[in-house]
Amino acid sequence: MPPSPAVIATLRQVPFFAALPEAHLEQLASTVRQKKFPKNAVIMSQGDDTDSLYIIASGRIKVGISDEEGKEVILSMLGPGQFFGEMSLVDDHPRSANIETMEASEFVVVNKDDFKRFLSQNFDMALAFMKELVRRLREADKKIESLALMDVYGRVARVLLDMAEETVDGKLVIKRRLTKQDIARMIGASREMVSRVMKDLVEMNHVSFRGTVIVLHENLAGSAR
Ligand code: CMP
Repeated sequence: MPPSPAVIATLRQVPFFAALPEAHLEQLASTVRQKKFPKNAVIMSQGDDTDSLYIIASGRIKVGISDEEGKEVILSMLGPGQFFGEMSLVDDHPRSANIETMEASEFVVVNKDDFKRFLSQNFDMALAFMKELVRRLREADKKIESLALMDVYGRVARVLLDMAEETVDGKLVIKRRLTKQDIARMIGASREMVSRVMKDLVEMNHVSFRGTVIVLHENLAGSAR
């Protein structure tokens, strides 16, 4: 059966698959599976032995790690066109983190052997893959910097700026639901502390709410330095 155009379009959103020649991308697309999960489903757990790479076709997931008492740290939130599960494919170690859907989500799942076969045959894909890994390392470095060097105001401001998207009129907004609990789990603070900081940021006119949309004002960047 020829690969579905929707699967090819999803793969093409990922820079290292977009680096493949069209014929190879189509061959790869004919090997993948598609999976659907409801909101709050566990897709993989830290320590699992599995062998596939997931591309998000729609929806949103969070990457987290938790301790034995269930206390959770959120490492990242990922949406359409982003991928997860690449680390175990590269080093054959168990899964490094838990992945849970934040909304109903659809995935394109690439098998480890197929991924490695295409990677070994395409230098441009391998280079683009390395660039993505380096980009994630840079993001992780930025988070370590903010955890080690910033106060809670700075950390909250950093998360808000990282999650924001720019509207056509140049405003920075967060449209997707982002709870105070989520922010707290991303910066290692309590939910109460995040509530207090958000209230202060609103009072200082660094942030405002339009319904459920968070609007970031220009002076917020000063809090993240
Ligand atoms: P893997 O270890 O196979 O399974 C869990 C996945 O979570 C991992 O691959 C990465 O895709 C993802 N992951 C782990 N740490 C981070 C991080 N700091 N930022 C974004 N994604 C991550």
